[in-house]
Amino acid sequence: MQLATPPHVPADRVVDFDIFNPPGVERDYFAAWRTLQAPGTPGLVWSTANGGHWIATRGELVRTLWADAERLSSECLAVTPGLGEVMRFIPLQQDPPEHGPFRTSVMKGLASRFVVALEPKVEAVAQELVDGLRPRGACDFVADFAEILPLNIFLSLIDVPLEDRPRLRTLGVQLTRPDGSMTVEQLRDAADDYLWPFIEQRMAAPGDDLFSRILSEGVGGRPWSVDEARRMCRNLLFGGLDTVAAMIGMVTLHLARHPEDQHLLRERPDLIPTAADELMRRYPTVSVSRNAVVDVEADGVTIRKGDIVYLPSVLHNLDPACFDAPDAVDYARGLTPVRHTTMGAGAHRCVGAGLARMEMIVFLRTWLAAMPAFALDPERPVTMKGGNVGACTALPLVW
Ligand code: HEM
Repeated sequence: MQLATPPHVPADRVVDFDIFNPPGVERDYFAAWRTLQAPGTPGLVWSTANGGHWIATRGELVRTLWADAERLSSECLAVTPGLGEVMRFIPLQQDPPEHGPFRTSVMKGLASRFVVALEPKVEAVAQELVDGLRPRGACDFVADFAEILPLNIFLSLIDVPLEDRPRLRTLGVQLTRPDGSMTVEQLRDAADDYLWPFIEQRMAAPGDDLFSRILSEGVGGRPWSVDEARRMCRNLLFGGLDTVAAMIGMVTLHLARHPEDQHLLRERPDLIPTAADELMRRYPTVSVSRNAVVDVEADGVTIRKGDIVYLPSVLHNLDPACFDAPDAVDYARGLTPVRHTTMGAGAHRCVGAGLARMEMIVFLRTWLAAMPAFALDPERPVTMKGGNVGACTALPLVW
């Protein structure tokens, strides 16, 4: 067990900050994190919570450390105790050089020509959900839409029949809003039990779905082993649910608070792709942890071999030293490539980034075309949570 404050950590670096419960997170995830960017706060601080770990608080440092896969390992999904050992995600928890061939195979399966071809399926899933909601005049966007859309999209990508979908719904909720009723092991086993028949079938007789494409690519010239296939499919399921749910939740909250943006994007749907890019920059919710495999000097201190470093994308994307007026949603910003870290940086940058972007665009197009002007329900509060994927936990809307 690591000491909460080891001797190599200077006293002026120590903060009381729990990444699972930053101060005021229920009201505003972004403001809660940005308390770490108050003037005078160093670029690397040591949190005594969760066994003790570093947090990078300045944008450039977040990005540099994120991309340093040689000295900072991804193997153990560190800050959440036990999670890494249980999940053993491929390729997320692999380090170079082992990581490369697995990632290449997954990337080929998610290549942009396949993403383009998937668009009608995603559109059909989004349309079906929107059509179901519209007559109701109100919803909790998180439970009624954000948690369901990425799950249904994922199941379409791997060609699971519609009638099988409710089985994964509980699992989806536990993934996005864990209530402690399932252990991490139970969650993994439930996901594996669900996915296994599809994996087995696709390994034996590949179709043209996502799993089949990746599995038939092989790994570095050989077939996937059963264990590797399970770990990879698990990574795809877990990687694309709560992240997408969190993103569309935050973007919808933005639109609910900015009727002028709803109006603009309804009038000018051609702006939606660049708007999606900028909204994804503005509302980053993923943080990652790394383990130092050697001593790393940064910001005037030593991250000792074995230390954990926590890297929040919010502290890069919303750092005024990295982006002009970072709080402003400026759709013109999306016209040129922007180096934000919503999807990570370096060797592990999200392999689903193209798919996620397409999902965002299709969501915005479908939702805005079908729904009347919508607003926050004045009677019920918006609530948020922290953790590795921050998100709205309740987003009551009316229209
Ligand atoms: C808006 C939605 C999404 C966000 C914000 C997001 C964010 C990220 C981030 C920050 C990473 C880097 C993790 C690290 O450095 O440790 C990552 C990796 C990954 N993501 Fe996503 N992701 C999204 C959607 C998806 C989707 C839809 C899929 C799958 C279909 C997916 C699958 C993966 C996988 C497999 C990795 C591991 C890549 C590697 O280790 O080489 N993600 N994602």
